[in-house]
Amino acid sequence: MAEERFLAPGLRAEDDEVERSLRPKTLDDFVGQERIREQLAVALSAAKARGEALDHVLLAGPPGLGKTSLAAIVREELGVGMRTVAGPALERKDMAAILMSLGERDVLFIDEIHRLNAAAEEILYPALEDFRLDIIVGQGPAARTLTLDLPPFTLVGATTRTGLLTTPLRDRFGMTFRLAYYEPAELVRIVVRSARILAVEIADDAAHEIARRSRGTPRIANRILRRVRDVAQVRHQGSITTAVAAEALDLLEVDGEGLERTDRELLHAIAVKFDGGPVGLSTLAASLGEEQDTIEDVYEPYLLQLGFIQRTPRGRTITRLGRAHVGLPPTGPDAGHGADAGRGAGRGADAGPEPDPGTPGLF
Ligand SMILES: Nc1ncnc2c1ncn2[C@@H]1O[C@H](COP(=O)(O)OP(=O)(O)OP(=O)(O)O)[C@@H](O)[C@H]1O
Ligand SMILES: [Mg+2]
Repeated sequence: MAEERFLAPGLRAEDDEVERSLRPKTLDDFVGQERIREQLAVALSAAKARGEALDHVLLAGPPGLGKTSLAAIVREELGVGMRTVAGPALERKDMAAILMSLGERDVLFIDEIHRLNAAAEEILYPALEDFRLDIIVGQGPAARTLTLDLPPFTLVGATTRTGLLTTPLRDRFGMTFRLAYYEPAELVRIVVRSARILAVEIADDAAHEIARRSRGTPRIANRILRRVRDVAQVRHQGSITTAVAAEALDLLEVDGEGLERTDRELLHAIAVKFDGGPVGLSTLAASLGEEQDTIEDVYEPYLLQLGFIQRTPRGRTITRLGRAHVGLPPTGPDAGHGADAGRGAGRGADAGPEPDPGTPGLF
């Protein structure tokens, strides 16, 4: 059974292409994040007026909020070339080769920059600070260091986790922008813009409904819009009415808070299997059959934002709100024993201790 997921990585190629077509190309197209846009606009104009490379920029925030889009916009606004690389894949020698290939004022975009390996990162420091590359030639006693001058360039780094960036690397960025979850009204604008690009008619209420259930994330809003469009096309006359949107969202199992199946499984696991927590990330990940990184980067931030779970030094716990969302009664002195109360009111025998992690969930 193919499970539709809006959050996790692993897009189909076709989706990838559509996603690119929906990507904002200029700062004016980029909806929301007003302060970031303003500050970037000023920095871009100043750099262009002086004919200098823009200061290095760090973009931080949960997946799908527009980091890659902003990097491409910076390149576009500067009218320069861009190299895009993934942090984890880079070896020291790759990094040296990429730095040497950069042209004057080009943008080097490093995605997942918190996962750079130490040797690749080290060679980056003098490059960022003095546009200098130190390479070692030869081996043993004959080894010597060659210093090459690099053209001034701009590093744009993207990360879902600033906490994992080393201090020396973080300090070398002139600007750090933290992208926040979007307001519903901003997501409505994004949905309406995307519908126009996809040439599908959409009712105002339908756009609001999609926006409300997109967990503050443009990528999710766009993905839901595309699936809703499919339902409109296959089952109805093609345009997205409010009723069509509601029907499609139900079909997709996206609930009123924008949570999908895996979110609910996660909440349910903490509440029932782990007795409300605290449960460690690795245990939780194993029980859900998910990668730890995926849980931490993709699912948890929004659940934390909603106040459904908490991170404590001893692990994750579920809150009263979180329990209520998956239909479990509150626990506490008046509510009987947590896990038992949960099981009784919850999903019954299915919530046993060892579900097969490969089988998508209980809901
Ligand atoms: N501010 C915005 N205005 C309009 N559309 C946006 C905006 N931000 C993101 N999008 C849309 O969301 C999609 C995902 O954004 P993007 O790929 O830039 O996110 P990201 O932060 O790089 O995510 P990841 O951390 O997963 O790499 C884009 O293709 C674009 O269509
Ligand atoms: Mg990205």
